[in-house]
Amino acid sequence: MTAPAIPAPATGRLGNGQLRRQVAEWLAARPGPHTVGEIAKDLGRSAGAVGNALTTLADRAEASRIAGKPLRYEANSATAAAAAAITPKAPSAPKAPAPPKAAPAAPTPAASPAPPATPAASPAAPKAPAPAPKATRGPVTRPGGQVYRPRVLAGMADVEALRTLRAEGVPSLLAGPPGTGKTSLVEAAFPDLITVAGDGDTTVGDFVGEYTQRPDGTYEFIYGPLIRAMQEGRVLFIDDATLISPAVLAVCYPAMDGRREVTVKAHKGETITAADGFYVVAGHNPGVHGAVLTEALSSRFTFQFEVATDYDLARSLGIDSRAITAARNLATRQANGETGWAPQLRELLAFAKITKIFGLDTALANLAGVAPAEDRDVVAETLAKTFGKTVRPLALGRQI
Ligand SMILES: Nc1ncnc2c1ncn2[C@@H]1O[C@H](COP(=O)(O)OP(=O)(O)OP(=O)(O)O)[C@@H](O)[C@H]1O
Ligand SMILES: [Mg+2]
Repeated sequence: MTAPAIPAPATGRLGNGQLRRQVAEWLAARPGPHTVGEIAKDLGRSAGAVGNALTTLADRAEASRIAGKPLRYEANSATAAAAAAITPKAPSAPKAPAPPKAAPAAPTPAASPAPPATPAASPAAPKAPAPAPKATRGPVTRPGGQVYRPRVLAGMADVEALRTLRAEGVPSLLAGPPGTGKTSLVEAAFPDLITVAGDGDTTVGDFVGEYTQRPDGTYEFIYGPLIRAMQEGRVLFIDDATLISPAVLAVCYPAMDGRREVTVKAHKGETITAADGFYVVAGHNPGVHGAVLTEALSSRFTFQFEVATDYDLARSLGIDSRAITAARNLATRQANGETGWAPQLRELLAFAKITKIFGLDTALANLAGVAPAEDRDVVAETLAKTFGKTVRPLALGRQI
C-alpha cells in the first residue's frame, strides 16, 4: 500500500489481524447491522481496509453479512470470540470500543479453530511482510446473496489471492470467455467494489465524472467511479477493459502508478489522491471482436490470469453430468478449431434451471439455441449424442 490517505484520523498501519480484531470488537459491542462506512469512520480507518476485515469475518462465519444496497454487517454468536482470539498488539489501540463484554473470553489461547497466526506474546515484532490472512476455504456469499465457491489461485483460495494483491497494491487482470466466473470472483473477493462496464463508447467522464444539471438549471460536478473508489479506498472493477479506447483507459493509470493521484481536468484540474485500500482490477475477453490488450494496459496489470469454466465446480453445483460431458467435448473441439463455441458455467447453470422449469427436452433445445448460429448444428449434434435424444434449437411451434 502507499499514501496515508487524505482526511481520516487513521492511526498508522495495524499488524496482521489487528484491524479484524478491532472491527469484530466494534461489531460485538454494537448490536444491529452497520455499514462499512459507519464502522470505518468510527475506527478512523479506510473503508477498503475495514471492508476487507468484514469480508474475512463474514467468510469465516464470524460476522453476518446482510445483502442489500448499502452492504451491512452485524455481529453473530461467534463475533466476540473471534475478537478475543486475536492477541491485541502491544501499543495501545487508538480507539478500541468497549471492553470484552459478554462471553467468558479466555485470556488468549484456547478454543479457536482459526489459523495458527503468530505465536502468542510477540516481542518487539519488526513489522512482518504479512500477506492477508488465508483462511477462506468454504463458500463465500457475494453481495447479491449468491454463493461463490472459491477456486485455487497461486496456491490459495482465489478470493484470498485477490485480497492479498489488493493489500500489496498489485493490479490484476482476469481473462476469459463470457460466463466463466470473472465477475463472480471479483464480487466475492471485494464486497466494496465499484464497477465500470466497459465498451467502445466508454468515455473519460464515465471514469472521472461529469457536470450534470440540477433541477434549478445550475450545474454540479458528480464524481465518477474512479474518483469515488479513490476517495473511499474501494476497489474499481473495470469489466471488459480491452473494449475501452486505450486513450480513455489511460485516465486510470496515474491512480495505479506510484503517486496514486489523478487530475480531474474537467473539474478545475482538481487533484485526487487515492485513499488506502484503493485498488484496480480488470476483466476482459481476449477472444471478443474489438478487444485490444495494449502494452500500456498489460504492463499496469502486472498480475494476469485466465478464468476458464471449472467443470468439476459445475458438477458440484448439481449440473447434469451428461451436460458437462457434452460441454467438455465441445470445449476440446473448440480448442482444436473444429467449432467456435462451448457452453460455459453460465450456460450450464441456465441449463439446470430450465430443466427444472420446463424439463430436459426444452433445456436441451434451449442450450442448442443459445449457441452462435454457425456452431448450432455441432452443439445440437453433440448434445443429441450425449443424451441419446433428438435435439433441435428451441423455436416457437404451431398455434395451440
Ligand atoms: N466459483 C463459482 N461458484 C459458484 N458460482 C459461480 C462461480 N463462478 C461463476 N459462477 C456462476 O457462473 C455464472 C457466470 O459467472 P460470471 O457472471 O461471473 O461470469 P463472467 O466471466 O463474468 O462472464 P462475462 O464475461 O459474460 O461477464 C454466474 O451465474 C455465477 O454465479
Ligand atoms: Mg462478467
